[in-house]
Amino acid sequence: MRIDILTLFPAMFQCLLVPGIFERAIERGLVRVNTHNIRDYTHDKHHVVDDYAYGGGAGMILKPEPIFEAVESVKSDIYKEEGKSGEIPVILLTPQGRPFSQQIALELSRHTCLVLLCGRYEGVDERVRQHLVTDEISIGDYVLSGGELAAMVVVDAVVRLLPGVLGSEDSAQDDSHTTGLLEYPQYTRPAEYRGWTVPEVLLSGNHAEVARWRREQALRRTLERRPELLDKVELSSGERELVDRLKNLSLGSIIK
Ligand code: ADE
Repeated sequence: MRIDILTLFPAMFQCLLVPGIFERAIERGLVRVNTHNIRDYTHDKHHVVDDYAYGGGAGMILKPEPIFEAVESVKSDIYKEEGKSGEIPVILLTPQGRPFSQQIALELSRHTCLVLLCGRYEGVDERVRQHLVTDEISIGDYVLSGGELAAMVVVDAVVRLLPGVLGSEDSAQDDSHTTGLLEYPQYTRPAEYRGWTVPEVLLSGNHAEVARWRREQALRRTLERRPELLDKVELSSGERELVDRLKNLSLGSIIK
């Protein structure tokens, strides 16, 4: 996958190069990340990228010209170098975007290239939204100083889903949210630490029992912490019964 990031602060993305999953993915040629400074696409002496809002109001707005030129230049490079045809996703990171989720990460991981556009200041000229970007993503209901940290979140969540990036092919499969549920509790050695023991079933070697225990724990944890997720997930009738039983139990304890 090729990812091009358009930003006023390319240096912020240096941290993607520190040792870890990402470095491995780059070394193995599974992903290529290019950063582009939007300011390089200005033509005036002072390299101005923002201006006052028409109609007044506080804050500066990112001008359309350098953004259009930067995106068009990157897209033409992708068409040329990658021999790609068709639409290239151009994603604006903004608190007004659709809420980012594991589902969207999966959807984005199926593309061969992505262009991420980081907004700054009080916003971007609306024509960028209307005529340039194909998607808008928010990483949560809070306002960051710019889209850079949001772009890093998206890049991280997407890259770890690319085949071959994680050590074992299935290590993303049980992730919280991949299954629609929160992940079950995990333990490693020692089997006893400060008197706290690992659940017996995990030491049993009985794979079916382990799988059943994990599924039940994932259901319990999701019910306790994010009950609304259970409305969206497909459960067997046995699992629905279990969830109902657990709900009644916790209702019982509240009434008591
Ligand atoms: N830019 C500023 N805040 C943001 C958010 N919550 N998500 C994505 N981009 C942003």
